[in-house]
Amino acid sequence: MLFSLKFLSSALALLPLVVANIGDLPTRDNTIERRLVDPVIAISPTDANFGISAVAPGRFVTSADGTKIFAEARGNPSKPAIVFIHGFGLGAMAFNEIFDDPLWLLQVYMVRYDTRGHGRSDKPNNAAAWVSQRLAEDFDAVVQSYNLNKPFVLGWSIGGPHIADILSFHPPNYISGIIYDAAAPDMTSLFNIGSPAALPLIPSLIQTTNVTQFQAAYIDFINLCHPALEWNFYLGCLGDGVVQPRDVTELVLTRTQNSTNLYQAATSGALPLLAIFGADDKIIMKQAALDAMAGWQRLTVVTLPNAEHFTWISRPVLFRATVLQWITQNA
Ligand SMILES: *[C@@H]1O[C@H](CO)[C@@H](O)[C@H](O)[C@H]1NC(C)=O
Ligand SMILES: *[C@@H]1O[C@H](CO)[C@@H](O)[C@H](O)[C@H]1NC(C)=O
Repeated sequence: MLFSLKFLSSALALLPLVVANIGDLPTRDNTIERRLVDPVIAISPTDANFGISAVAPGRFVTSADGTKIFAEARGNPSKPAIVFIHGFGLGAMAFNEIFDDPLWLLQVYMVRYDTRGHGRSDKPNNAAAWVSQRLAEDFDAVVQSYNLNKPFVLGWSIGGPHIADILSFHPPNYISGIIYDAAAPDMTSLFNIGSPAALPLIPSLIQTTNVTQFQAAYIDFINLCHPALEWNFYLGCLGDGVVQPRDVTELVLTRTQNSTNLYQAATSGALPLLAIFGADDKIIMKQAALDAMAGWQRLTVVTLPNAEHFTWISRPVLFRATVLQWITQNA
């Protein structure tokens, strides 16, 4: 599933320097080798971020309401841009395997961010911070900071509904197209699309009286996303669960939005959609998701065989080929 670091460094050596965050660096053996060189910034413990203290490669962008959003870009800035929006509980780290893949880095410019309430970003817990426009403004801040022009947007799982927020406040041509990866298109359909194994975990994930119950439910959730994750990555997934206050989890799941403009863009043919499913997904139900996308004019559906909810971890090569081919056709 994961390639070795040795393979990664020899693959990076083949990359031209047009790829952002790649540089020729002196090694301690006095040779020059090509490496990922993301500038690292400090994440200081504040009430707004629930006290987390760490360093990570990326930047903070400030959303219209002052919320600090942690974002990161990698890849080839001369190629089409894709903004990746992660799903429940996790942060942008969910996409590590894609952002470390030299073939992705060469062919697209990839941007990801921890959505508000997640990972390294601020985690406001007042209802006003969770109205639809705030989430659209977070995306805007990322787009402006990286000078993106009509990016494609990939929403994974509950990351899908963010695109409905974005289109409530922008015309369809603000973006080039939508990729729903094992995703729900909006908050209303989310609870029809969630599987009978996943939905019953929600009460355990938002209650605040029983720690054991929370731990067990969150571990169950990650296991349902993929039953055999590499250990360090698994710990990262569990860690993103721990850095989210439970009242924020509740706001993430109960917020509302107006998806009129999304479905208008869908049925008018204004935006192409690539809908990817994992045939073995245990978190969402494909047919229910397709029902929510009924009437979409420019729809491509691809089901990856033997793929779990973490579609790209299950089928990295097939997933990459599916997305990049579709991007090429629609760029
Ligand atoms: C806490 O949750 C665990 C696991 O669901 C359960 O076994 C236990 O009885 C609960 N404890 C209390 C005090 O409710
Ligand atoms: C939803 O958005 C549409 C299109 O902008 C608008 O006509 C409609 O009134 C909105 N609905 C609500 C409940 O705000």
